[in-house]
Amino acid sequence: MSEKAKLILEGKEYELPVVIGTENEKAIDISKLLETTGYITLDTGFKNTGSTKSAITFLDGDNGILWYRGYPIEQLSEYASFLEVAYLVIYGELPTQKELDYFQRSISHHTLVHEDMKRFYEAYPTGAHPMGVLSSMIASMSTFYPESQNPNRPFKDIELTMHRLIAKMATLAAQANKVSVGHPIMYPKNSYSYTQNFLHMMFALPTADYEIDPVVDDALNKLLILHADHEQNCSTSTVRIVGSSQSNLYSSISAGIAALWGPLHGGANQAVIEMLERIKNDGGDVQKWVDKAKDKNDSFRLMGFGHRVYKNFDPRAKIIKKACDDVLNRLGIHDPVLDIAKQLEEVALKDPYFIERKLYPNVDFYSGIIYRAIGIPTEMFTVMFALGRLPGWIAQWKEMIEHGEPIGRPRQVYTGSTKRDYVPIPKRG
Ligand code: SDX
Repeated sequence: MSEKAKLILEGKEYELPVVIGTENEKAIDISKLLETTGYITLDTGFKNTGSTKSAITFLDGDNGILWYRGYPIEQLSEYASFLEVAYLVIYGELPTQKELDYFQRSISHHTLVHEDMKRFYEAYPTGAHPMGVLSSMIASMSTFYPESQNPNRPFKDIELTMHRLIAKMATLAAQANKVSVGHPIMYPKNSYSYTQNFLHMMFALPTADYEIDPVVDDALNKLLILHADHEQNCSTSTVRIVGSSQSNLYSSISAGIAALWGPLHGGANQAVIEMLERIKNDGGDVQKWVDKAKDKNDSFRLMGFGHRVYKNFDPRAKIIKKACDDVLNRLGIHDPVLDIAKQLEEVALKDPYFIERKLYPNVDFYSGIIYRAIGIPTEMFTVMFALGRLPGWIAQWKEMIEHGEPIGRPRQVYTGSTKRDYVPIPKRG
């Protein structure tokens, strides 16, 4: 017999259906609550609220589990390519060789960006943050492909937009970086893999090729895979809610980039490095900064620590921490902020404040150290997060459209003034 929830309101008893997911997650379905009881629910920040049913990613915050379409990230990040995982997340199954060849060929075919878009860079101020540039450029892409403005076009047209986004966002990200450092833009080389091409566009010069180190290429592949999706996080929920108005995919992704930029979300990877640098320059007294993070009167937080869902370790952080050691050792780099990060982790994880609140290192705590070792500028770190997350955003948008979900429009509890009449200025107190 299917489980029911009972609700007693003003002496009346109501029964609410219960939804149970494939991994036994339980939810009370309140989709008819207002019409049957006259009540809504209130859950600021949606800490207890599910926005949808999804078959893309499974998280278990207590046991540190993360699966894409049922496959553990530990296996995918070890054995798969980023485009293989992007295909899995978007289409739902790991591709056959034929399917992967088609996907890779299509992505390679669309890596060039319309030449008119290069003029946009001339308008940005020197030092413009690449996340602001990327969000605008992706939204502007919808003007170059007006047919993409209708999300209800045949799947082949939607698929073309999905492939254009995956191909061109890497090119645009690398171009934004080149412009920010005053170097000439490098064009994609379609003989390269997705990650090799990105490294080429980021670091090659007209005067000198960039030699792609397999260690660096593998680390980038792993990092992009680990960021590919993460169920209904802030930026993914943004993509879904913007897409639910039937706005086009480019504008939904642009909104997702904007949401990811925040230091409480994807912007944390840049904030972590800035925090570690600050601690290093302050003399490296890790305990002092842990105490600041605990002080309610101090706005300082330990960036890269804590998570809305993971109340144990973030499985991605474990993999990235190991990759960090591998990459720095193989490249012969000693980065003092890595030592500080490890000391910070050690001190915090022994501290009751962090233990009681179940605050552990998250995906952003170590990722910036690898990006830095690769030579990626700090302000590009969140762009890297967006590149990795793009397949997840696309998959979640596609699922929302395919489910025919209604426009997202939450309710509220009004706490403002009761009705009052207009008073002309001369009579106002
Ligand atoms: C990402 O959602 C996702 O899936 C996101 C993400 C993804 O892949 O999409 O995983 C990527 O965004 C990772 C998170 C990156 N952000 C940071 O590293 C910023 C630092 N962390 C936090 O600000 C915080 O932990 C959040 C935003 C991540 C989670 O915030 P919650 O769930 O709203 O928790 P909260 O702010 O209510 O904190 C609960 C308690 C509070 O103390 P009390 O009021 O109970 O005394 O924990 C404290 C907070 O003050 N706390 C911290 C802390 N994080 C929470 N105290 C010090 N340092 C921190 N980092």
